[in-house]
Amino acid sequence: MCGIVGYVGKKPVKKILIDGLRELEYRGYDSAGIAVLQNHQFSLFKAVGKLINLEEKAHSFETTGFSVGIGHTRWATHGKPTELNAHPHLGNNSYVVHNGIIENYQELKTMLIGQGTRFLSQTDTEVIVHLFEFHLKTAYTPFEAFTQTLHELSGAYAVLLVNASVNDTIFFAKHGSPMIVGRNHEGETLFGSSDAALIGKCHEVIYLEDGHYGYASVEGIALFDDKNQAVNLNFTPLSENKLSAQKEGYRFFMEKEIYEQTTVLSDTLLGRLRDESIHFEELDPKLFDGINEIKLCACGTSYHAALSASYLLERHAKIKTSVEIASEFRYREPFLTPDTLFIVISQSGETADTLESLKMAKKFGLKTMVICNVDNSSMVRLADASVLTRAGIEKGVASTKAFATQVCVLWMLSLFLANERKTLDATEIRRQIRLLRALPATVAVDPALHEQLRRLSKRYLHGHGFFFIGRDVFFPLALEGALKLKEISYLHAEGYPSGEMKHGPIALADPELFTIALLPQHKLYEKTKSNIEELSARDATICSISPLDFDKADDHIRTKSTEDYMLEFFEMMVVLQLLSMEIAIRLGNDVDMPRNLAKSVTVE
Ligand code: F6R
Repeated sequence: MCGIVGYVGKKPVKKILIDGLRELEYRGYDSAGIAVLQNHQFSLFKAVGKLINLEEKAHSFETTGFSVGIGHTRWATHGKPTELNAHPHLGNNSYVVHNGIIENYQELKTMLIGQGTRFLSQTDTEVIVHLFEFHLKTAYTPFEAFTQTLHELSGAYAVLLVNASVNDTIFFAKHGSPMIVGRNHEGETLFGSSDAALIGKCHEVIYLEDGHYGYASVEGIALFDDKNQAVNLNFTPLSENKLSAQKEGYRFFMEKEIYEQTTVLSDTLLGRLRDESIHFEELDPKLFDGINEIKLCACGTSYHAALSASYLLERHAKIKTSVEIASEFRYREPFLTPDTLFIVISQSGETADTLESLKMAKKFGLKTMVICNVDNSSMVRLADASVLTRAGIEKGVASTKAFATQVCVLWMLSLFLANERKTLDATEIRRQIRLLRALPATVAVDPALHEQLRRLSKRYLHGHGFFFIGRDVFFPLALEGALKLKEISYLHAEGYPSGEMKHGPIALADPELFTIALLPQHKLYEKTKSNIEELSARDATICSISPLDFDKADDHIRTKSTEDYMLEFFEMMVVLQLLSMEIAIRLGNDVDMPRNLAKSVTVE
């Protein structure tokens, strides 16, 4: 995903900008650029690919004395990853960098073209700089032109803009995408789209709020809110310790990553939702020509994402879908047919079994695709096509946000194929796109719910085992809930389809058997309820998770009533993640680095 940095000060600016961009590299990007303003002259460098390419281009460029600079790593959404589409974007005398999406860019672009503006790139970002210069013709000051520009933008953005007539100034704005401004004892001002870019360079920062905008110059920072009122500069100290700073006040990376799901899901959706269809810029529709079957293959949590997707792909796209555990697939001499698209799912892109399965599928001549969180990983390099999940670096060994983004991508893929194959009508696709737009808000952690789970966790520290049960997509979610608990609490837990309990496991039912029951309102409610009642009748201890009251439960976690089971899925996912984490914390375990586990399993 895109990253932004900015600098106002006297040090050699190129190094500061590129070092800052390097701290944001983990988010993934496909091009990068910097623009430096000194003595009313701009210097611009852009390069496709990694930062090393940008460094080579800017090799002989150095500054001494005061300058301002802005930099960007771009993750292509509107327009391919080319130098022309890389940021910073130029007007006549100004440059801009931007994260997010300008939703009304087409309308603004048409207006500006009508006024004689020439556009060089395919990006939505370029309209910002031209709109600014359009207003500059009549505004009293560049800042007034900047303010007028912001009033006309809709969508999500974090923006830095520099104009040659104001040599010492960066204009900035934040609306829906993160932006942080920091300062240090040497009187320098820095910007970053994440504080990772500022650690070690600033001692205090302001996490800008939506609607905040202003300018930073040699004289300091002026900050305004969305009602154009001046805002006091409330700096908070920035830790110098990279690791603890990156935890941003959370106790564990896992906790931070659970809370981050709302942001990373927005990133995952970015540029992929149209009103009527799903758009994957990275996918050539020809990939699906002649395909009559999909085989999903993965390990662990990624396997659970695959299993969830198998319901959605068959239901929405009416395509035969099977799911394979990679370590099994490799050795079971599978029967493969050339009309099968082989999709591997992996957070790291390096898991040995999944990688080998991918190689096998390629050897059989199948078309292949990977859904992955790490650009340039072995699987991304090997597969015919790849879709990146954009979860950002996941530090907690127990996967949380990567799972959320995997299921999100796979849900989008099911709708993309439904559209291609005409298996869902337009109204239903539109409805589901509306649901996808609601995902970031759905996974936002409600502090009262978190507190309830923290208190509840003390009752679930013993017992002879946990059963997580659910039906339909809530069965893979139950598997994932059980895996999360096992990994970090070291308690025995199993995921099971609710309807299967009476075929054996119900023999275990007694008060020391804890059942975590997923009871969504909008998918097989009555059926699941009967299964839970059967367990309750045999004295199992039941913790139900549902938007509806359930009087047979010992504990009840109430989710919000949502309009569709997929939103319930994501809401319950957060509940399961937090519950496992709170149990593990009470047991005194190292939540981020549980015993015996590694983040990337590169051996079979
Ligand atoms: C569980 C977990 C693992 C991974 C599995 C596959 O929390 O993280 O089960 O999902 O090792 O890893 P990737 O997705 O990197 O292939």
